[in-house]
Amino acid sequence: MNYKIAVIPGDGIGPEVTAEAIKALDAVGEKFGHKFEYTYLLAGGAAIDKTGRCLPEETVEKAKNSDAVLLGAVGGPKWDSLPGDERPEKALLGLRKALGLYANLRPAIMFDELKSACPLKDEKVIGGLDLLVVRELTGGIYFGERGTVDTDNMGKAAYDVEMYSEKEVERVARTAFEMAMKRNKKVTSVDKANVLESSRLWRKTVAKVAADYPEVELDNFYVDNAAMQLVYNPKQFDVIVTSNIFGDILSDEASMITGSIGMLPSASLADGAFGMYEPVHGSAPDIAGTGKANPMAAILSAAMMLRYTFGLRNEADAVESAVRKILSEGLRTPDIMTPGYREITTSEAGSLIAEKIGE
Ligand code: IPM
Ligand code: MN
Repeated sequence: MNYKIAVIPGDGIGPEVTAEAIKALDAVGEKFGHKFEYTYLLAGGAAIDKTGRCLPEETVEKAKNSDAVLLGAVGGPKWDSLPGDERPEKALLGLRKALGLYANLRPAIMFDELKSACPLKDEKVIGGLDLLVVRELTGGIYFGERGTVDTDNMGKAAYDVEMYSEKEVERVARTAFEMAMKRNKKVTSVDKANVLESSRLWRKTVAKVAADYPEVELDNFYVDNAAMQLVYNPKQFDVIVTSNIFGDILSDEASMITGSIGMLPSASLADGAFGMYEPVHGSAPDIAGTGKANPMAAILSAAMMLRYTFGLRNEADAVESAVRKILSEGLRTPDIMTPGYREITTSEAGSLIAEKIGE
């Protein structure tokens, strides 16, 4: 099979980690007899510098015409003073919307080998951690009406509207329940239904979807409680489904309890098999070009692409176990380095993982 992948390296460490993910994909291609074709596209600061716009039309068109998108990261201090609509981050939001990527899967898995990096007490994470945040990605306050107004006596005011339709909630809830069916059959829906009307509709709609999944247990948590429970008793969670903004916040929290944001991949899925895959970490401009970036989140994102868009389960397993192998051999990038292990660079990590895939 020929698979067409749009690659958007982006800014900061984006290009470095994407290059390592491609080493892994090429190793998979060789070992399992697939052909991956890459089309490189511009977005974010890199696109601003070359074209004056953060998300050129060509990028959207070509991404749409591919089977999947692999993205590094966007943003950096160089573009921080641009107005909101021209910032590199806007490219990310534009891609999510234009490609219909409404379901964002952010698995937070604690690798046994990295247990010492977990900031929680051992007893909280005994037996490991494996939870999945399903974040709604194309609605809510990120895309609602926004603006500024002048008030009579309170100066300027600004607003951003949080609005959800039943359809938007229903489809992302369905994704969460489908995922739960393949995991531990438990969904926790997170909202602020004690205050927000949009959350009350969210909760009602999730309950309707739940009726189609009698085997799955559904809990509803308020977001403040969910944030607390994540550090108090993270093992109670299997799948968490929540809105765009709550998912943004809780997925960072969930990633930190596994010890290292440098390890976490993500998938943003549309209807059907199409998806965009990117590491959860950002562009980390402070370490760009130093060889210190951890490419494992990008490599694991490529594994998610194999699994969810291409349906190549064995291939995805091979990539994930290659990552585990180098960790168990004591090899560490600086972000996960602790005394007694051997430090390796971004490209060493990528090459070693690719080698293990080929074995
Ligand atoms: C994320 C990021 C983005 C978001 C930013 C860069 C716009 O924080 O993917 O979590 O808030 O969605
Ligand atoms: Mn975020």
